[in-house]
Amino acid sequence: TPRVFSGIQPSGNLHLGNYLGALKRFADAQNQGVQTLYCMVDLHAITVWQEPADLRHATRELAAGFIASGLDPARSILFNQSQVAEHTQLAWVFNCVARMGWMQRMTQFKDKAGKNAQNASLGLFAYPALMAADILAYHATHVPVGEDQKQHLELTRDIAIKFNNDFGVDFFPITEPVIEGAATRVMSLRDGSKKMSKSDPSDMSRINLTDDADAIAKKIRKAKTDPEPLPSEAKGLEDRPEARNLVNIYAALADMSVDQVMAEAGGKPFSEFKPMLADLAVDKIAPISTEMSRLMQDVTEIDRILANGADRARAIAAPILRQTYEIIGMVGPR
Ligand code: TYM
Repeated sequence: TPRVFSGIQPSGNLHLGNYLGALKRFADAQNQGVQTLYCMVDLHAITVWQEPADLRHATRELAAGFIASGLDPARSILFNQSQVAEHTQLAWVFNCVARMGWMQRMTQFKDKAGKNAQNASLGLFAYPALMAADILAYHATHVPVGEDQKQHLELTRDIAIKFNNDFGVDFFPITEPVIEGAATRVMSLRDGSKKMSKSDPSDMSRINLTDDADAIAKKIRKAKTDPEPLPSEAKGLEDRPEARNLVNIYAALADMSVDQVMAEAGGKPFSEFKPMLADLAVDKIAPISTEMSRLMQDVTEIDRILANGADRARAIAAPILRQTYEIIGMVGPR
């Protein structure tokens, strides 16, 4: 039976890329009626420095973002990674399965560690093994993510395959990455060659899920474009990264294909297309922001939801960890 798992780091500034690449698709999976688990990965967040009070706030705000994006705590298991100890326990086992060389090839490690990799935390290096543990602790079969997580999911498969081979078992599933739709890589609104990211110093480069209607409209109005009108067909977008990005965003927000958007908006100048996009974005994003602030008024309720999610998550992960320990030869309780 299919089981969907995914995670998001509570490191501030949830943005349109996170919404279209992840949250909106998490809600779609939930609404298809499969079992869904979604995790605030606070242990991944601390692989780089987090101010403790900011981390706690960001975790609750992320939970509010999940719920405001349509995730229902009764139908999806919403929880906090650090509240389910099985993640770190299984991660240690995977640290001993994965090879140094596999980790060294990770482009996200190279990007985040920068020039001075000797000064990066050991956790940042081992990050993908914890991510594999997140997924495999539930025997998850499908993982919806944005394009930038593809390499990590390949490593998750490599870890499952090596574990199964090393111990001669068919225990961990070979997980399918689900990277689908028009917006698996939303680009910066200021630079069509950079992905939209929470760490971009320019707030104009991204639409935050906490932005109000005015901010959203302004950022779209000011988004960088070239001077030509939109082409008449999708093919004409190939060498026009900024135009392509705005069309992709439109398609994903409207639940349309890129071809359908081009049938509607092809040939229009940006002076017409941007207001269409701004209206649509305000329509879809501003209510999320309003709902997030409403939910943040009652953090006790958010904490209760996360604690309940953690209990339900642990009920699945604990027997899988027990079996893992059994397979590798730990003397366990009888
Ligand atoms: P994170 O927190 O950086 O991002 C969360 C999700 O948002 C997607 N995303 C984007 N999608 C489209 N366009 C963008 N510009 C964009 N920016 C971010 C990401 O692809 C991701 O799906 N390592 C993960 C978190 C994680 C995880 C997991 C994911 C930890 N354990 C297990 C899946 C399964 C991360 O840092 O995502």
